[in-house]
Amino acid sequence: MDIEEVVSDFVSLKRKGQNLWACCPFHDEKTPSFSVAPHKGIYKCFGCGKAGDSISFIQEHDGLSYMEAIKWLAGKYGIEIEETERTDEQIEQQNERESLYIVMGFARDYYQRMLEEHDQGRSIGQSYFRERGFTEKTIKAFELGYSLDSWDAFTKEAVSKAYNEDLLEKAGLLVRKDGGRKYDRFRGRVIFPIHNVSGKVVAFGARTLKKDDKPKYLNSPESEVYHKSKVLYGLYQARQAIRQHDNCYLVEGYTDVISLHQSDIENVVASSGTSLTTDQIRLISRFSQNITVLFDGDTAGVRASLRGIDMILEAGMNVRVVMFPEGEDPDSYSRRIGTAGFNKYLADHQQDFITFKLNLFAEDASRDPVKKAESIKEVISSISVIPDPVKRAVYLKESATLLDMDESVLLAELNKLLIEKRRTRSKTPLSEPETDILSETPPTEESRPLDQDQLIAIQERESIRLLLNYGYQPVEENYKLYQYLLEELNEVDFTDPLYREIFDVFRKEHDRGNTIDSQYFIQNGSDEIKQAVIDLTSVRREVSPVWNDKYKIHVPHEQDFLDHTVYQNITRLKRNIIQKLIDENKENLKNVTDPLEMDRLFDVQKQLKASEMELSKILGIVIPG
Ligand code: UTP
Ligand code: MN
Repeated sequence: MDIEEVVSDFVSLKRKGQNLWACCPFHDEKTPSFSVAPHKGIYKCFGCGKAGDSISFIQEHDGLSYMEAIKWLAGKYGIEIEETERTDEQIEQQNERESLYIVMGFARDYYQRMLEEHDQGRSIGQSYFRERGFTEKTIKAFELGYSLDSWDAFTKEAVSKAYNEDLLEKAGLLVRKDGGRKYDRFRGRVIFPIHNVSGKVVAFGARTLKKDDKPKYLNSPESEVYHKSKVLYGLYQARQAIRQHDNCYLVEGYTDVISLHQSDIENVVASSGTSLTTDQIRLISRFSQNITVLFDGDTAGVRASLRGIDMILEAGMNVRVVMFPEGEDPDSYSRRIGTAGFNKYLADHQQDFITFKLNLFAEDASRDPVKKAESIKEVISSISVIPDPVKRAVYLKESATLLDMDESVLLAELNKLLIEKRRTRSKTPLSEPETDILSETPPTEESRPLDQDQLIAIQERESIRLLLNYGYQPVEENYKLYQYLLEELNEVDFTDPLYREIFDVFRKEHDRGNTIDSQYFIQNGSDEIKQAVIDLTSVRREVSPVWNDKYKIHVPHEQDFLDHTVYQNITRLKRNIIQKLIDENKENLKNVTDPLEMDRLFDVQKQLKASEMELSKILGIVIPG
């Protein structure tokens, strides 16, 4: 497929030499660094690094899967694609879906035409939108329409164009009662088409124009193309802006989305009155890892929506929150204070989820210690659902500061929750349990506490992971992480033969003056070593730097506090080794009979205990007794 043709549907390309240039559709920029090389059939952005061919361009641009992108291109350029053989049932389903898309498209065009051309649409529909402050441009962009106040005006028109009633009913446009009565579902309402990600209309929301008419919004029923838990209102119009700003605003209603667009905020979607689902979150995550939830100004509603915040955190995404004054929603408030004021309000009032939750519970908490304990539990509970241990550690620290509490107390609470959680879903292995760098008892699949040997093995693994991933990064000026590790681990005898081998090879090659990294082991190691190294060096998802720059919230990458991490790791490893020696020494003490030897062992015990204490202090752990 001709890349020039495909890309130019989305951005305007200018020729310069052999290549074509444009401002990148994948990130925010003022001067073009996005290039298309037609002779090679590829695009590449020198700003953000995105690159690929026609298919990957569509995938990236519309958040589609490979197959979806191929189908999209095939549809657009009228190319037949060979499908693998399908069952009759699949073909029928496919046909039904296609018919639904077509009839929904027809209905959208019809409602738009009624709004523009019909007397009723103009006098009632248009004046309603005007009253709400919607511009001509907005009405076009969201393909808004109007349904006549008549029993069957739409159905008649559709049937005259040869759409059959069964299909109209399946699409939810026609209602047929048992007695054979038939009528249009949407009558005398303004119409908000709901699009899927690729811009096809899959449903409608229809608002009444009468004051006390119920329901206020009448929505299409579910169908083969519309599953309400998997659709976000406005995503089609917002997707590009979400990617460019690397953030998505989440609101409740149709009109919130539209008003924000008019306030120049285009990266906004609505869950449309239902509570947020994991499918919707996943949909957003195709375009950005950052969500800012805008809450209407009533506390009851907010408390009901708290689950949504945890779900976003659970998906590994970053969440911020903005609250509006009592009685306002984003739509009413943006219109009240205007574009500039509204944008400023957003910037000034966004909070991370910790601050938000603390504030939410703070009113009661300031006086009542029981309430305070509850609000702490609320926060820790949210932290516990975050899959990335590094982020958990960062948020725990922030909570300790905000609450002015000892981090170790919060950590104990967090670990309790983590262990409980593990117990309830004991069979599903955790992604990266042992890298829980702050966790005193690292989580495992089992609920039983770990013994010293297991703890040592975990810290050995962590040391090697840090060595392989960040060995050549500086922790101090002129001092690299591997130098620190080689020195600190010099006397440590690795218990796991795999890690011992990796460490020994690293040291040997280093002493010979060679620079070695994970690639070296992947090329030269045994199958076992290779596998271990790949496991240890597979990266977790990075936090976008925009989040840092723009919102001034520190969501650091592991690299940002390597010195802290590696120091904790080594201290922990040493402490575990000491504790093992203490246990062994205790055993020896039990069996000793020679008084001189007993004295000596007591001395050893005292020294070991002192070291343990010292190391514990560094780690912020209080040892009883
Ligand atoms: P709201 O009642 O807050 O509506 O419901 P709104 O968006 O502020 O609407 P206006 O400003 O009065 O026109 C929020 C969302 O919940 C869904 C709609 O998606 C609505 O936008 N909803 C609400 C329904 O689906 N049906 C209803 O009867 C009410
Ligand atoms: Mn409203």
